[in-house]
Amino acid sequence: MPGYLDRIGAGKILVNKEPISFDWTPNNLVGRDKELSELASMFSHIENHNSSCRAVITGPVGSGKTVLSKRFGHDLLKHLEGQRKISYSHVNCRNNPSTSQVLQQIAISLDSGHPERGLSSGEIIQSIRRNLMTHNNHLLLVLDEVDVLVRRDNFDLIYKLLRIDESQERQGSLSLILVSQDSMLLKLFEPAIISRLGASNILQLKPYNKEGLIEIARQRADIACRSGSISEEILQKIGTIASESGDARLAIELLDSSIRKAESAGRGEVLIGDIEQSSARTASIEPSQVDGLSKDQKLIMLGLCRRLKKESEINTGDAEKLYHLVCEEYESKPKSHTTFWKHLKLLENEGLIETRNDKSNVGRGRTQYITMNNVAPANLATRIEIDLQR
Ligand SMILES: Nc1ncnc2c1ncn2[C@@H]1O[C@H](COP(=O)(O)OP(=O)(O)O)[C@@H](O)[C@H]1O
Ligand SMILES: [Mg+2]
Repeated sequence: MPGYLDRIGAGKILVNKEPISFDWTPNNLVGRDKELSELASMFSHIENHNSSCRAVITGPVGSGKTVLSKRFGHDLLKHLEGQRKISYSHVNCRNNPSTSQVLQQIAISLDSGHPERGLSSGEIIQSIRRNLMTHNNHLLLVLDEVDVLVRRDNFDLIYKLLRIDESQERQGSLSLILVSQDSMLLKLFEPAIISRLGASNILQLKPYNKEGLIEIARQRADIACRSGSISEEILQKIGTIASESGDARLAIELLDSSIRKAESAGRGEVLIGDIEQSSARTASIEPSQVDGLSKDQKLIMLGLCRRLKKESEINTGDAEKLYHLVCEEYESKPKSHTTFWKHLKLLENEGLIETRNDKSNVGRGRTQYITMNNVAPANLATRIEIDLQR
């Protein structure tokens, strides 16, 4: 047996890998009691069979929006056991960005198979409703990262879901929680949607502070690791680094990578040097960040935003063409190809855009794609247009 394989399953530190994964939902959330109570009060009528509840959760990356909505959903189902039958469906719109994909995910979660082809979204929604009513069921639907859906398909689906019981005899088929990183999104909602959602049903999560992040790392370390393998000093250091962004994911990532480093060095204890500073990254950005860009960077961003309002990504070739078009529009001389690339890198470093290489495209040189995950392109476009017109 080759000796190097001894490392597999050796687990000098880890006894249970699961809590180190992002998808693990702890039974108790650290420091979010107040937020959970607020959600509960938005759902105070949920035990009535005729009622539907609504909530909007916003907050920066890693502030626990996803885990909060999941914890709440599962706790609520348990709490209402025997009182009201509720199905919980959590759809991530980044993975399912179109109206039909979202509806398909809902249908799958209700076990009613795939929606029939050729039906309009309105018809599919009504068929979902009939299915719920027949089974005396209520759907608690979470549309996570809903800004991705809105950017692509506008508010149409949300509007239809909010009106699902309109002019129907029986009410109360669906409760909705919208989750979005971008609180600017709320400003884009039409008044009709806001009034249906309830203007006060908005829960804004703050980024975690150092203490919160330490406790989040500690909770996982306690369950995942051998006792004594992660010292207080390590948790403090992780908390300090992650508090720059307040992103809980970063704290967990740092814990994970430092454990791996220590284990691969054959140690049963994490040392300060195992914590990778390099994985520190910035969280979501503020739209005001574009105000400080140079004119060319603004022109590049404007081109990107206009396309990314409609599509989820754009390749760099198209991005450069759009930059030239925008330059023409604002009567500015476009910079060289090399300078354009330099600016793209800077924009990426600022966290305004993200890039990925398409590896499948070998031979023709790698194609790079740009996405904007941390901010709504429509908002930025308007902001930059106003700025450039001054
Ligand atoms: N209060 C908390 N207690 C325990 N774990 C948390 C808490 N908040 C966030 N996490 C964990 O941090 C990670 C990021 O949280 P997530 O809900 O995905 O953030 P968001 O959806 O806001 O980007 C997840 O693995 C989540 O389980
Ligand atoms: Mg999330």
